[in-house]
Amino acid sequence: MTQDKQPATTIITIEDAGKHVGSTVTIRGWLYNQRESGKLLFPIFRDGTGVIQGVVSLKEHAEAFNALKGLPQESSVIVTGTIRAEARATGGFEMHVSNVEVVQRVSDSEPYPIQLKEHGVDFLLDRRHLWIRTPRQAAILRIRAEAELSARIYMDSQGYTLTDAPIFTPAACEGTSTLFEVNYIDDQKAYLTQSGQLYVEATAAALGKVYTFGPTFRAEKSKTRRHLTEFWMLEPEASFAHLEDMVQLGEGLVSAVVQSVVKNRTRELETIQRDISKLEKIVPPFPRVSYDDAIKVLQKAGNPAKWGDDFGGDEETILSKEFEKPVIIHRYPAAMKAFYMATDEQRPDLSLSFDMIAPEGYGEIIGGGERLANYDTLVKRLREHNLPEEAFQWYLDLRRYGSVPHAGFGLGLERTVAWICGTEHIREVIPFPRMLYRVYP
Ligand code: 4AD
Ligand code: MG
Repeated sequence: MTQDKQPATTIITIEDAGKHVGSTVTIRGWLYNQRESGKLLFPIFRDGTGVIQGVVSLKEHAEAFNALKGLPQESSVIVTGTIRAEARATGGFEMHVSNVEVVQRVSDSEPYPIQLKEHGVDFLLDRRHLWIRTPRQAAILRIRAEAELSARIYMDSQGYTLTDAPIFTPAACEGTSTLFEVNYIDDQKAYLTQSGQLYVEATAAALGKVYTFGPTFRAEKSKTRRHLTEFWMLEPEASFAHLEDMVQLGEGLVSAVVQSVVKNRTRELETIQRDISKLEKIVPPFPRVSYDDAIKVLQKAGNPAKWGDDFGGDEETILSKEFEKPVIIHRYPAAMKAFYMATDEQRPDLSLSFDMIAPEGYGEIIGGGERLANYDTLVKRLREHNLPEEAFQWYLDLRRYGSVPHAGFGLGLERTVAWICGTEHIREVIPFPRMLYRVYP
């Protein structure tokens, strides 16, 4: 390898091209596509921040022309040229190329496998490491990054401290049927975390208002467009907090994330052709419907749901169709919720729980509620749920030593980003999706 030649011109990113109209600058990236028209070439370059069309003339810049002519797609290049405003070009600018340095020429015998035509999704998922180079996929990943950043900024602005939860855990949190078992050191058994909740309950008793934000795992046998086996969750937990506090926090968090994406990732939303007007409406307050009333809404719509049933994708879609904003369904029957849920004093058959259902059929993006604070009730529940008491002794300590009312929730990052992006499946919003039959690449 030779040393990088330092071009004499300023190196810019394509997203900043508009700031350099009339100047000669350098872009470092890849050849995305190219059209030839006699003595002119129209290459399209991408650099991860956007795409820009170039114009190269044989007459004016023969060397650059010959370097680009026939150059295979995805060859890496460093190109220098003058930026001009061009209303007809994608992005509104083009580059009149005067110099081209090919960094790596893709072999003619082994062309880049992803063509610009439509490919089947399995073909693309097998090549996910390359698929992410396409402008649509890159835009989605930038939106995801903005969602993560704005979520953290919002949580911190509300006085919450990030406390990371472990990934190896000694027991289940969200039901034993979706646990991934791990062969831990010297034949000890461990499990991949399904939720950081139990640990943020501990850090909440130590720090007050906390959250964790990281990967969680579910051995989900469901092959739906809403399920991954590895997904990211943001989980706040607050001491001395109740159900309504968490509903408000969730509403504020989701609005803050959506509005940050609208403001800071406008270009990416345009790239993926998302209807921004739908996102602009996502401001508090969100509608609230009790589980009791939700059953009535479903029955009125002709759905066979009856009191005590859990909601699946169909029910969530019917309920969310009524509103343009996410809807909060609260106080589900205690029998269908996790062991740690507190119950309503007036109606012990109800849990102090809530789900937030996204609009446009994206389903549950948040699940949470108030936790059982009483030691004896919690022990009783662990037994009812057949959970190993030894593994929960540390958790029971939180009820032995200064137990307080506390509440929290989990926001599924991929479901939230899939809704914001309007993607058909949540597998597109995580760089390397892990699903029922997919752990490659
Ligand atoms: O409703 P869930 O199971 O709640 C919990 O895990 C609680 N312990 C959270 C808490 O209170 N701290 O999961 C929370 C959210 C869901 O609303 C959904 O958005 C997402 O996590 N989620 C999934 N996302 C993708 N694939 C899956 N298999 C998911 N399972 C849950
Ligand atoms: Mg849930």
